[in-house]
Order: sequence, then C-alpha cells, then structure tokens
Amino acid sequence: MRTTDDALLPPADHAQSPRRVHAEVFGCQMNKLDAQIGLEALLRAGCVRAENIADADTVVFFTCAVRQHAEDRFFSNLGTYERWKARGPGRLVAVAGCVAEEHGAELLRQFPFVDLVCGTRHFHRLPELLARVRPAAPVVATGEAGVTYARRRSLDPRPAQAYVSVMRGCSLACAYCIVPSVRGPEVSRPPQEIRREIETLAAAGVKDVTLLGQTVNSYGRSLGAPHSLAALLASLAGIPGLARLRFVSSHPRFMDEALIDAMAALPNVCEGLHLPAQSGSNAVLKRMGRGYTAERYLEIIAACRARIPGFAPAGDFIVGFPGETEEDFRATEDLMRAVRYQNVFVFKYSPRPGTRAAALPDDVPAEVKQARNARLLALQREIALPLYRAEIGKTVEVLVEGPSRRSPARFTGRTRSGKIVLFPPVDAIGGLIGVRVEDATHLALYGTAASGDADAAR
Ligand code: SAH
Ligand code: SF4
Ligand code: F3S
Repeated sequence: MRTTDDALLPPADHAQSPRRVHAEVFGCQMNKLDAQIGLEALLRAGCVRAENIADADTVVFFTCAVRQHAEDRFFSNLGTYERWKARGPGRLVAVAGCVAEEHGAELLRQFPFVDLVCGTRHFHRLPELLARVRPAAPVVATGEAGVTYARRRSLDPRPAQAYVSVMRGCSLACAYCIVPSVRGPEVSRPPQEIRREIETLAAAGVKDVTLLGQTVNSYGRSLGAPHSLAALLASLAGIPGLARLRFVSSHPRFMDEALIDAMAALPNVCEGLHLPAQSGSNAVLKRMGRGYTAERYLEIIAACRARIPGFAPAGDFIVGFPGETEEDFRATEDLMRAVRYQNVFVFKYSPRPGTRAAALPDDVPAEVKQARNARLLALQREIALPLYRAEIGKTVEVLVEGPSRRSPARFTGRTRSGKIVLFPPVDAIGGLIGVRVEDATHLALYGTAASGDADAAR
C-alpha cells in the first residue's frame, strides 16, 4: 500500500532525482531524537541525506527555544537561507522543533521564504508535510497530534547506544521554563511499546539505552497506577544484552523510594543520576516553583548515596534568576559542595515569553550573571577533580564509542556512571572493555585498555 509518505515531490529542477535533505539539529536529547525519527521518515519516503548544505536542495532545522540567546542565534542564521533558497529552483526551507512550535505561523511574517513550520508533535509527518508545500504556499503544522516513534536507527552513529523516548511534554510549570508550552502536557508511552522497541534494539546489538523524558521519573502518571518509572525499569532489566539502562532528566519531586530501590537493586540500571537542582536557595526555589527545598534535595541525594554503590549525581543550575542575591547564590555554592556532583550544567537566566518569571524584573545584571556562572564552574572543577583522580589505578568498565572528536588519535567511551574516558584505539567499537585509569582531569579519565574484566565496573 502506498502511504502519504511516498508522495514527496522531487524538486522542480531535478524532476527525476530524490530530494537531498540537510538537517541542522539543536537543543536537548529529546529534540535530537525527534530529529532522527523525522529524518528517517524522510529517507524512507525516498529522500537522500546531504551532509553539507552545498549538496542539499532541502534544509530542515530542528530548533531549541529554551534560552533567548539560542533562539536569536538561530534566527540570524535562518535569515541567511533566503539567499540560499533563491539560488536554486525548488529549494525548500523547513523549521521544526521548539522554535517552530513557539512561533507557529507568526514565523512566516519575519521569514516569508520559509516553506514549512513543523511543531514538536509533527516531526514524524515531515514527508507528508513537505510534499504539501507549493511555491509561495507554506505549510504550518503545530499543536496537538498523536506522535509515532517508528525508527530504524539508520542514522545512529553509535552502534551500541540508543535513546528511547518514554514520555513527551511536561506538566509542571517551573516559572522560568518555556518547555511545557512548546512541548505540551506530559504523555507517557505504553510500557509494552517501549519494551518492544528496546528488545529490538538489544537484539541488534545495543547495550546502552537512555530513556528520555522532560520529567522522566514521573513516567506513568498519565497512564495511571500501577505504572511508574521504577516498574518500567524492572520490566526492562532482564532484556538480554542490555548492559546499561539510564534515564534523563529526573525531577526531585518525583524521586521516590521505589525508584531509589530500583536503581539500587537492578544491576543494569546505571548509578549516574541527572537531578537538576536549579538553585540552593529556598527563596529562589520557591519563586521558581520547583516544589522542593534545598534540604529535601539533599535528603534525596543522601538516600541515593547510602543505597546505590558508586552513586554519581549530575545537575543543572540557573544563575541570576530574578531577585537572586549574593546570599542566595552562596546557598547554591553550599548545595554544590554538599552534593559533590560528577558534572553540572550552569545556565544564565534568560526570560522567556509567556512564562511566569517573564513578569518579574530581570534584575540581576549581565556581568553578575556572568561572574556567578564562572564561579560555579570553577567550584565544580574543584569538586570534580578529586572525584575523577580517585579513579586512577582502577580498571573501569567502558563502552567504546570510537575516535574522540576533539583528539581523533584517541578513542573515547563512557563508564557506567557517565564519566568520559580517553584511551588508545582498540578494535572494539560498541564493545565493553576494561580501561586501566592512569590520569584524570575534572572532566575525563585517561588510560589504556586492560586485559581481563573491569574490577570495579563503575
Ligand atoms: N526537563 C528538564 C530540563 C529542561 S531544560 C528538567 O526539568 O530537568 C534544561 C535546563 O535548561 C534546565 O534544567 C534549566 O537549568 C535550564 N533552563 C530552562 N529554562 C531556562 C531559562 N529560561 N533560562 C536559563 N536556563 C534555563
Ligand atoms: Fe521545564 Fe520544569 Fe518541566 Fe523541566 S520540569 S521541562 S525545567 S517546566
Ligand atoms: Fe530546547 Fe525544546 Fe529541548 S526548548 S531544551 S529543544 S525541549
């Protein structure tokens, strides 16, 4: 049976040849996975991939709206595509992802040369939507839509690792955050569907799966009891060949005993936990609407540390949220010292349209945000260096990814908790090996492949 996917028109100047699609992908892992699924749909519909824009007749942007700076950069880049489009008949420009959802048809006012605005729940329909485009008749698809996750992993660069969406959207309302409005409310995928997808991946050689959701540890809420992330992890734990199972991002509000128990008890659930704190000041947390205090956050970390051997937390922080004082900021430093994160991401607060915080004065000066950002990163270096150096002399279990992008003479891989490891090339891409750690920075371990098994496996 022919589906609408087959109806994608070739460009006017190449009536017989397939469309050559170039993708530019920004944003978080969830957006990247959507991009991969959307692109695979285009390839199935007969398009070919163009690595460079010079070889393409269609460009698709998968965009991120989480901070103003990223959006501004995208728009100034998009502006340059008007000339690119004018240079070849039949060329198409598509904007997908969170900026597309945020602006919808409005985007066409400023960028009338854009052919397709494809919102966050329409990426799997890209072939059909592009096929509907006619000269000077752009197509806009935003808002609610049932999402399908069909994928073949033909675009996955790493043979042994995969991301799997377990839920979409977010039903919380952190005061600063645009994600709920561009991704819609939280919707969990049925567990049977997730399990089938992961069984297929594992049978094809995938050893390391990361479950994705904006608040992944609230998984199941939209399905009702007895569904939960803990139950989902338990149902995936026995899949043959699946050595490592992780999940991002977790929200402190949904860290319950059952989930900590699952992490402690299931051998393939990894001991890294991304648990954004955002701030260590209770006053700021309250204004952010995060629903926990610094004390509660530390309690959760303590419970994990007590029960999960090798527990390695990671975090996100926002500096310069409206009204953040030096004292508030010091509370964040104190929280970081108490937690001892393996790694953190630090962001300067950026007001986003339509959020509650956008109504508050953005009163922390840019240079103060910059200085606090630098102070947190410096503190993190201090905290992480001894944690990483403590691995020297140990043999750690590494999933081999391949040549490092920064230094291609070396191979890179990750430990179970997510530490980056660099080592001389081995003939084992996609395999699990032991690496004896000889040196360390605050960001990475350096070593050589050890014969025999990893002793710590962490
Ligand atoms: N759903 C995830 C994260 C979503 S956005 C979670 O709740 O953990 C990723 C990170 O971007 C957030 O953790 C936060 O630290 C940061 N962020 C979100 N909105 C921001 C804003 N308006 N300004 C600066 N940083 C922001
Ligand atoms: Fe944004 Fe908060 Fe939802 Fe995360 S939990 S996506 S920070 S609203
Ligand atoms: Fe950005 Fe959208 Fe992800 S706003 S962080 S790409 S959900």
